[in-house]
Amino acid sequence: MQEKFYLTTAIDYVNGAPHIGHAYEKILADVIVRHKRQLLDNVFFLTGTDEHGIKIQKTAAAKGITPKELCDENFSKFNNAWHELEINYDKIIRTTDVQHTKIVQQIFKKLLENGDIYKHKYTGLYCSGCESFLNPKDLTQDGLCPDHLKKPEEITEENYFFKLSKYKNKLIDYIKSHPDFIKPAYRVNEILNQLENIEDISVSRTKESVQWGIGVPDDDTQTIYVWIDALSNYITAIGYDIENPSEQFKNLWPANVQVIGKDIIKFHSIYWTAILMSLGLPLPKTIYAHGWITIDQSKMSKSLGNVISPHDVLESFNLTKPDAFRYYMASAALNGKDGNYSDEDFKEKVNADLANNVGNLLNRTLNMLVKYFDGEIKEEFITDKNSKIALLAEETKDKIIEKFNICEAAEAANIIISFADSVNKYVTDTAPWTLAKEEKMTECGQVLYNVLEAMRFIAIMIYPYCPNIAADILTQLNEEINFKYSKLIWGGLRQGKITEKEKIKPVFLRLDSEFASDKKKG
Ligand code: ME8
Ligand code: MG
Repeated sequence: MQEKFYLTTAIDYVNGAPHIGHAYEKILADVIVRHKRQLLDNVFFLTGTDEHGIKIQKTAAAKGITPKELCDENFSKFNNAWHELEINYDKIIRTTDVQHTKIVQQIFKKLLENGDIYKHKYTGLYCSGCESFLNPKDLTQDGLCPDHLKKPEEITEENYFFKLSKYKNKLIDYIKSHPDFIKPAYRVNEILNQLENIEDISVSRTKESVQWGIGVPDDDTQTIYVWIDALSNYITAIGYDIENPSEQFKNLWPANVQVIGKDIIKFHSIYWTAILMSLGLPLPKTIYAHGWITIDQSKMSKSLGNVISPHDVLESFNLTKPDAFRYYMASAALNGKDGNYSDEDFKEKVNADLANNVGNLLNRTLNMLVKYFDGEIKEEFITDKNSKIALLAEETKDKIIEKFNICEAAEAANIIISFADSVNKYVTDTAPWTLAKEEKMTECGQVLYNVLEAMRFIAIMIYPYCPNIAADILTQLNEEINFKYSKLIWGGLRQGKITEKEKIKPVFLRLDSEFASDKKKG
């Protein structure tokens, strides 16, 4: 069978508008998926929105609209942002979709039949920020939720519970014997520690406390609590059905990579995994947890007034394409660590990498090709596959594939840029302008050929981050627009006249400091 790649992201709560933290995750996911599409044909990218729960119910009530109206309004904001950022998903699921709702009830029923869900009266500490009961052991010294720094509410309710405890040992064994399951690997211990104290979890709330949610089947007093609803999206979106799963589901499940933020690893590597075990479904190959984006080194929050939307960034820098922002975000953090956004750093990084390093290299070289050879690549310029630059290009390609196999888009970006650095250094060292002056024209042509062929590699390799710039580079090289990795064979650059003076254009303009105004909203 043909190799497939199925990637999912977390689904965002639609009780507000997207900020650059949400954008970070979707860009990272999109970059990984675009890279996989360069290698494989059978690739599927799912994202979505999480639309139920008490927060949405309360926000809608405060605005005097229905929860569904609020969801529709905010769903559009997320979806528009993803279009603006060229997030090329195959499907965006909403948990209010009818099909999702139906299958979530089916899943709930199945877990009940399996004896994994039972009804139980319970008093617990509930944090509406987490939409979760908290373990008293996890609170701060002052008794606050460690994530939201809010005092949780004491709630007594009769709810349905999921027997997480039953899966404890199975989960521990699975995680220990599957080193690729939770990535980056340094997160594993944190999860194993949490599993030591794991208790059964509430999977419903009373209708009185939460109306906005999927009803528990055959019990109108209870609403399915957000996590069973939300997590199931990864399978309902592709046609899971216990009796009659779709062909698409059979083709795609288990997911290859589930990209999520570090704050929700527990829900994915413990709750979700146990639900899948109960349903008898295979587990995702990798759950990849990314870090968080801070703004000028502080946590983004409404109360600090420092929330930035991706649109604000593009607008304040007068960017009509998302490439620079995508590139910056996807390079923002190594190995699942936190990353930071600042206007200054954004400008410096994209000017250095995209304008100076990559853009100028292409521009200078094409200009030399016009000046010395009237824009023509002659047969005698074509160098053999064992030249230093050719070998480096091959090696760079292999390293990028390796990095993407472990979701390290930031490292892959560094590898591309360091290849471009090497090519720049090669130009300086070989000095084609001196070769031309000395009338060593074949040698001069060979250098230009090497650089332009390297640029063709760079265009294809940088495509997942910068799809428009990549297309512009190929156009400048007179190449067809095809980003498949099968094109990455040294010597592929077209011969003959590829350009002339009037056709040479910069592929990325430096972000001028005057554009970086204070237009951003708080
Ligand atoms: O957690 N930097 O939704 P959500 C990086 N609905 N990532 C960030 C971030 C930041 N500053 N802020 C949020 C939920 N995220 C649930 C998920 S999945 C079945 C249900 C990430 O809107 C966060 O880590 O609070 C999560 O992965 C995603 O954005 C959605 O967060
Ligand atoms: Mg959250």
